[in-house]
Amino acid sequence: MSRIFSGIQPTGDLHLGNYLGALRNWVALQKEHECIYCIVDLHAITVWQDPKGLALNTREVTAGLIASGLDPKKNIIFNQSAVSAHAELAWVFNCIARLGWLNRMTQFKEKAGEQKENASVGLYIYPNLMAADILLYKANYVPVGEDQKQHIELARDIAQKFNNNYKTELFPMPEPMILGEATRVMSLKDGSNKMSKSDPSENSRINMTDGPDEISRKIKKATSDSELLPGDPKDLLSRPEARNLCAIYAALSNKNISAVCIEFEGKQFSVFKSALTELAVSVMGPIGVEMARLVSDQGYLDSVLKDGAERSRVISNKVLSEVYDVVGFLKT
Ligand code: TYM
Repeated sequence: MSRIFSGIQPTGDLHLGNYLGALRNWVALQKEHECIYCIVDLHAITVWQDPKGLALNTREVTAGLIASGLDPKKNIIFNQSAVSAHAELAWVFNCIARLGWLNRMTQFKEKAGEQKENASVGLYIYPNLMAADILLYKANYVPVGEDQKQHIELARDIAQKFNNNYKTELFPMPEPMILGEATRVMSLKDGSNKMSKSDPSENSRINMTDGPDEISRKIKKATSDSELLPGDPKDLLSRPEARNLCAIYAALSNKNISAVCIEFEGKQFSVFKSALTELAVSVMGPIGVEMARLVSDQGYLDSVLKDGAERSRVISNKVLSEVYDVVGFLKT
């Protein structure tokens, strides 16, 4: 049985991009694989987090995972800082990864922007910690949205260089799993930007906690264009906002974009947006309600994380011990 690992940051409201790009795929994978899902609070502090907000968000993301359909008994769900092996393996990888590799990471460039000199060192070496997350469990597959692909390629480079340097086959090569029709959900306001927690415009994203009125208002306000919907998805290539809405519809209805184009060929956006609203409310509405219920049960959420951390330590301590032996650290 293949082992799956993935992670998500507790840095703000979960949104439709997280759901379609990651969570719903995680839910589907739990049926046939051993899955480990991590709320990456160590990654979160690479940019400033208010301590109370970080704790709240960690519980809220836990609630989001469970409300989406992940079974915490079947899967391992835990927060990264509770398992110290992540930070320990990351240090070893800081000594494996090359500066040139990190210099190529587009997400660092995007996040640090003009303020590169002022960015935390943690933000720069973020991908090494991510490689540690994955390799600590010798994971075979990593289900993520399109934006994480480069980081997983770096994890492969690190695994390979570690294996070569130490003449071992300790780490398998993890494969990214980028599934579905909405692997890069774009902002509802601007089809050239990714839907993101850090976008200052609330109208750019549908949050997983949004109720029917908010979902409906945001879809109504979503940027579209004045043309009718085409029957062929190729004709959406030069219409990023329209393409994004069609991809969202496709993913939410488990269809491909071609089928959506055929369904709405020649229709106006007003008609399409009403159908999209109805669909989004029917899929996301119950998840938001369940999330709110779970968030009010802090004791339960904490017990899920505690149990998950205990189970993840059983796997990760063993792998870390193998790494320490290979590297030549004395276990005194
Ligand atoms: P994060 O917290 O930004 O996002 C969590 C997951 O949601 C996906 N995602 C999207 N997918 C489609 N469209 C979007 N607009 C969109 N926005 C987010 C992400 O691709 C991701 O799968 N570095 C990771 C967290 C991480 C991790 C790991 C992932 C840490 N360690 C190990 C995999 C394996 C991140 O910041 O994800």
